[in-house]
Amino acid sequence: MIELRNLTKRFAARGDKAVVDDISMTVEEGELCVLLGPSGCGKTTTLKMVNRLVQPTSGRILIGGVDTAGFDIVELRRRIGYAIQQVGLFPNMTVADNIALVPEMLGWNKTRIRERTEQLLAMVSLDPATFMPCYPRDLSGGQQQRVGVARALAADPPVMLMDEPFGAIDPINRTSIQDEFRHIQKSLRKTVMFVSHDIDEAMKMGDKVAIFRDGKIEQMASPDELLARPASAFVADFVGTDRALKRLRLMRAADAAMEPARVARLGFASADARTLLRDHLADTLVVLDAQNQPVGHVGPLELAAAGATLDAARVRPLPAVVRATDDLRSVMSMLLAHGVTWLPAVDAEGGFIGYVTHERIALMARAACVSGEASPQVAAAPRADDIALVAGAVR
Ligand SMILES: Nc1ncnc2c1ncn2[C@@H]1O[C@H](COP(=O)(O)OP(=O)(O)OP(=O)(O)O)[C@@H](O)[C@H]1O
Ligand SMILES: [Mg+2]
Repeated sequence: MIELRNLTKRFAARGDKAVVDDISMTVEEGELCVLLGPSGCGKTTTLKMVNRLVQPTSGRILIGGVDTAGFDIVELRRRIGYAIQQVGLFPNMTVADNIALVPEMLGWNKTRIRERTEQLLAMVSLDPATFMPCYPRDLSGGQQQRVGVARALAADPPVMLMDEPFGAIDPINRTSIQDEFRHIQKSLRKTVMFVSHDIDEAMKMGDKVAIFRDGKIEQMASPDELLARPASAFVADFVGTDRALKRLRLMRAADAAMEPARVARLGFASADARTLLRDHLADTLVVLDAQNQPVGHVGPLELAAAGATLDAARVRPLPAVVRATDDLRSVMSMLLAHGVTWLPAVDAEGGFIGYVTHERIALMARAACVSGEASPQVAAAPRADDIALVAGAVR
């Protein structure tokens, strides 16, 4: 758990103005909290105070309930993984040596370090055989950034600080690395403070999101809460006018699927299917096969033309099938693309779980809603204080 208590930072060069202004927040054990806000609002400064790369002017920071003011600084930084905004790889060391820095200092044996390095490079989608012997100058900005993330994870620290760690990575790799990182973070219950400029990344990654403005927290809440109930015009503006659509992204088809029992089956008596339609005031029925998988749908016209029982020849094909894990924004897009008002949803085995309708999605987007891009980081030369940090971790 990371707790910030009335944390303030003033820089002499900035005179009286607090760049971080009396901030209090808690990141629970195993939680990922995103600090989100415009450039210069104090995100990096807040992160750097947690590992004492910047000394707070006033206020306290507790990790696991213990005030970090009493920690040995090298010990503190060893327990905290840090992926810095400027990446900061050592230019005179190979990728493998950069990643191995902290594990080596912790006395891990060579085999364990090599296995860990290979595993981490694979996680950030870099082929270990190709990239381990490379020097940072041989890598693109996005590749360097991925090595920076691998290095932060190397010694498996329980607490991680990540400053726009995926900002320079192309959208396709970024999506898979975000997914993979989130999976690892959840399964290993790492406590993470994660800085981002990117609202979509924040909503996707965060258990909680803290919106910063001029050194203060405007609102800290779950992504759904922020999108549904922005606390101020600034937050509403920041999350965007499409926040209802963004909320749909947080919901799955499984949450919207309804009326799983309103179905006909191949071989069903047509008269029973007609009764079912009438009883449900419905104009269509999904038809399932013996494996419970949707094979099509029928309405009054097909049923009127059918024989005594339903056979595959009488069934209208389905334009598409929705997977239970699809997010509702994608489902809405499928409905629009096919010009239909509903689609059947299926589980991982292809079994029918219910109807997802346009109406239901609109209702879910509206419920609780009231009023109301990734910035590429070029891999620059590491700054002196950032080098001190990594070096501090290995001394
Ligand atoms: N060492 C320093 N000396 C003086 N002012 C500083 C120092 N470090 C940061 N600042 C100022 O503090 C403010 C907050 O900076 P910070 O780096 O925390 O912003 P940020 O939210 O991380 O911005 P970005 O999204 O651009 O990375 C800025 O106005 C910055 O100029
Ligand atoms: Mg910053």
